[in-house]
Amino acid sequence: MLSEKDFIPQGYTGTAQNGSFKWSAPSNIALVKYWGKKENQIPANPSVSFTLSNCKTITELKFEEKRDDGFSFDLFFEGKPKESFRPKIEKFFQRTAAYLPFLEKYHFTIDTQNTFPHSSGIASSASGMAALAVNLMSLERLLNPEMTEEYFYKKTSFLARLGSGSACRSVRGSAVVWGENKEIEGSSDLFGASFPDTLHADFTNFQDTILLIDKGEKQVSSTVGHDLMHGHPFAQQRFAQAHDNLSKMRAALVSGDMDAFISITESEALTLHAMMMTSHPYFILMKPNTLEVINRIWAYRETAKIPVCFTLDAGANVHVLYPENVKDKVLEFIKNELVALCQNSQYICDAIGDGAVQY
Ligand code: DP6
Repeated sequence: MLSEKDFIPQGYTGTAQNGSFKWSAPSNIALVKYWGKKENQIPANPSVSFTLSNCKTITELKFEEKRDDGFSFDLFFEGKPKESFRPKIEKFFQRTAAYLPFLEKYHFTIDTQNTFPHSSGIASSASGMAALAVNLMSLERLLNPEMTEEYFYKKTSFLARLGSGSACRSVRGSAVVWGENKEIEGSSDLFGASFPDTLHADFTNFQDTILLIDKGEKQVSSTVGHDLMHGHPFAQQRFAQAHDNLSKMRAALVSGDMDAFISITESEALTLHAMMMTSHPYFILMKPNTLEVINRIWAYRETAKIPVCFTLDAGANVHVLYPENVKDKVLEFIKNELVALCQNSQYICDAIGDGAVQY
């Protein structure tokens, strides 16, 4: 099994004076949720997600060799200087410097853009950190031309995790497990691993329509939320439940048991929010329209007999999940009944995807 030490390079044989790379990395949606972490971005429980396709960050990394020590970088968002990103990137460089000893040797220009609207409430940390990590790995691959493809992607995920936990699940498709689980061979706390089995045909091309319920700034950041799992009265039961749900979810994803998939997915979403509501301090990230959407999805599923369900992240937006073969009907339902509940009628159609792409 790989350990942290395996990601520390043993010297470089290649050279690179200057150049640039450009990659996109998508967002992902967790089915079994990561909520709670230990030191060094180690998750308190394993999670599994679908990699998305349309919601992504596109990042160009320019590098130029320099002589002095210390990190040096300029940041742009959609082509304009973006100083507010500096603390996050500085922290990412600090956390990854031991694994990327060349970081101090270059001046970087990082230019990033998202395909989803700014402040839509869709977290860009997963796609953003994954896109930055994969660019830095492209540079490391120039310095170490013998690097295998497997190592390239594992280390990309490892680095992305150090930026933001869920980012490690945004490097490759189409379903990714992060966090050690004794039944899942190759699973690791250090990086995301491909789902070990073939997905049932009903899950290939699975759809995720993201309803933008509230774009407001979150009252509580994910990082603070994770911290509140320390000393949380239900933490241990929750972490054990996640292992159990991962096993059940794995079986459902392989067999195509849609009822099981729906019940685990929705229960995970509500449990995530239940953890927030039962922490100290407690908080509620759902909005009235989040609940209204959930009730309408339940009513529609009951009457139309169509397998559509929801999940939530740490926010008010609702991810509506359904197989491709009911897409037309579900989109009709969304337009007729749910769009009116979205802020400015906004929603984004996405689907399961393949991970990072080089331009
Ligand atoms: C609710 O990955 O954003 O989306 O590691 O502190 O950056 P940090 O947290 P982050 O947490 C995301 C939590 C979640 C559930 C999930 O994606 O599994």
